[in-house]
Amino acid sequence: MSDPRIALPRLMAHRGLSARAPENTLAAVRAAHEVGCYWVELDVQLLGDGTPVIWHDATVNRCSDGRGTLADLDYPRARQLDAGSWFSDHFRGEPMATLREMLELINRHEMGLNLELKLNRGRSVAALTDVVVPTLLDALPAERLILSSFNDDALARAREIAPASQLALGVLFEGLNSDWRSRCEAIEAYSVHADWKRLNRRQAAAVAEAGHHLICYTANDPTAFAHQWSWGVECVISDDPGSFAGHLPDESSGRQ
Ligand code: G3P
Ligand code: MG
Repeated sequence: MSDPRIALPRLMAHRGLSARAPENTLAAVRAAHEVGCYWVELDVQLLGDGTPVIWHDATVNRCSDGRGTLADLDYPRARQLDAGSWFSDHFRGEPMATLREMLELINRHEMGLNLELKLNRGRSVAALTDVVVPTLLDALPAERLILSSFNDDALARAREIAPASQLALGVLFEGLNSDWRSRCEAIEAYSVHADWKRLNRRQAAAVAEAGHHLICYTANDPTAFAHQWSWGVECVISDDPGSFAGHLPDESSGRQ
């Protein structure tokens, strides 16, 4: 297997710098860049009209001034939403970002992207994967991209579109069950993305031994996380990566 030559960072900003800016917005990615965090984790879904947008929830209730489900919105209506003021007045008027806008911003800053295919209940795996993967392959070099998901069907479909040398795939786990190996092998996974609170030392060693990069989400307590670095964890996804300064194994939080 030949993976893309990704220089995996120690830290990724979860949903952009979501501790300091409204999650999954252009502002959150700019904020990550401003603090020197050059990789971001973001979620992608489709609006009802098929437009891919950067959004986590099935509804717009929590992170905008609107109500309703993403699947019932078209782009013109989604664009009218204020996706910033729920976080603070400073971000009033921040729009929901389309995938295309986000990729332009990421490329402008030469940042890396861990994009999560977010399949909320009832949404189509094929519709999301088939529009997102070609867009990504067009926009970003393989060295600055990881596509991740909890959904095995989406990852399998992505792998059908692009071989392992052209697209790094990350398998998201809540807990590493007995089938983690076969799930990774089935799609020639680049990385295992594990919930740091449910991971143990034995599992971490097994992941490394199997040749997968180990990424943990979503850790916001650098002191509690400290011993996990020694298990072979390579990268942490955090809402506030800056809080890890002084807590990293090699004291390097930036581009490597
Ligand atoms: O990709 C890691 C993490 O984002 C997975 O959980 O719910 O924050 O998307 P969630
Ligand atoms: Mg996510």
